Amino acid sequence: MNDICVMILAAGEGTRMKSTKPKVLHEICGKSMLYHSINTALEISQNVVVILGFESERILEHLNLEFPSQMGKEIKTALQDRKNLPGTAGAVMAGMSEVSKDTLIITCADMPLITASELKSLANEPCDVCVGAFELENPFGYGRVVIKNNKVEKIVEEKDASENEKAIKLCNSGAYAFKTTLLKELLPQINNQNASKEYYLTDAIALAIKSGAKVSSQSLNSTNFMGVNDKIALATAQDKMLALIRQKWMRAGVIMHLPNTIYIDAQASFEGECEIESAVVIKGASIIKNSVIKSGSVIESSLIENSDVGPNAHLRPKSNIKDTHIGNFVELKNATLNGVKAGHLSYLGDCEIDSGTNIGCGTITCNYDGVKKHRTIIGKNVFVGSDTAFVAPINIADNTLIAAGSVVTKDSSEGELVITRAKQQNIAGYFEKKFGKK
Ligand code: UD1
Ligand code: CA
Repeated sequence: MNDICVMILAAGEGTRMKSTKPKVLHEICGKSMLYHSINTALEISQNVVVILGFESERILEHLNLEFPSQMGKEIKTALQDRKNLPGTAGAVMAGMSEVSKDTLIITCADMPLITASELKSLANEPCDVCVGAFELENPFGYGRVVIKNNKVEKIVEEKDASENEKAIKLCNSGAYAFKTTLLKELLPQINNQNASKEYYLTDAIALAIKSGAKVSSQSLNSTNFMGVNDKIALATAQDKMLALIRQKWMRAGVIMHLPNTIYIDAQASFEGECEIESAVVIKGASIIKNSVIKSGSVIESSLIENSDVGPNAHLRPKSNIKDTHIGNFVELKNATLNGVKAGHLSYLGDCEIDSGTNIGCGTITCNYDGVKKHRTIIGKNVFVGSDTAFVAPINIADNTLIAAGSVVTKDSSEGELVITRAKQQNIAGYFEKKFGKK
């Protein structure tokens, strides 16, 4: 492990994505493609070099957010001179001074599904250069690996290929393992005399053979090495990753109903026995322990323990619930609920609610005064009648009873009844006066 460097090419523009966002920042299961590539690389090496170019500042900002403690240490970045040295070889040249290991694995940030073991296997081949390759029925767009007498001869790009070469089905994956010293000798020999006027890394293959080096190819799983160049491929890659995520958690004991309809981000996790019904969306680094999430619920960056949620509930970020029942059409945000029942139609934001408390249907925490957000604190065993509005900041003591339909603006003391509605009047004979006799 210690003598491998992984270089990730991420300087390209990605025009086929038709987006103002750089291609490698597009997300799959809640994390950017670049994040997934780096995460995989870190499993193999502590010398990861990321090549930036297009929108490098925006990408650097992203990397500093995602990998705050590893940037500049395990993860180094280098800037490609895309004007004078465009192309994948130009990208590699930019990063060579950061490579401090004997073997260099090169991969692209638009292949988010690659696994560490597949990448590592390229470096395990007994040769100087190993090209990761796969066969495709429709190889259009990929560089083709030309084999002669059972040996790799060269890689030719689609744009430069002859008709015979275009018929080759063996594709260059874009992932390779090189002996570092050899690649350093080859890079200066690469020119840009091709259809794209770019410096192709793929030209290093023929040059390596010419220099007498041993070059081989290894066949790889084509789905994992799929290059994401457009939004159709982005969706396909996400489907594939989702299937793996769901399988992983089902193996760990999670029950899923209609799993193909369930979305789970890569960062989410489950503990104990959980049950997830159909059409549930779980985003961010949510943690779900011994809980049931019913159909149609959306959970974002929340912690759920010994609870049941939904159907059709929405837990927005920083909801933290324990021993709690959340029913249909209840929305939580930045809310800590411990031993609470909120069965129907409520908005509970920026609040803390303690055990034994029952939140009636239609309860709202009015947390926003138009300028600032304020907190609602509700103690133990509080009975909140239906259609109560808490105007925050507010503090409701233990054992308070709140009458239905109250707009609560003042704190309560323990044991009180809080009632704010107007007294009911019953006016005899009024119906007939208005509508006549019926
Ligand atoms: C490349 C390969 C092709 C292979 C395919 C696999 C070359 C010349 N071609 O083609 O043989 O079949 O990948 O998916 O290498 N990049 C830079 N700087 C650049 C250009 C690209 O860093 O100047 C990066 C991109 O950000 C991307 C990767 O290199 O992550 C591949 O670039 P892309 O333009 O997608 O190459 P392909 O045309 O797909
Ligand atoms: Ca590509």
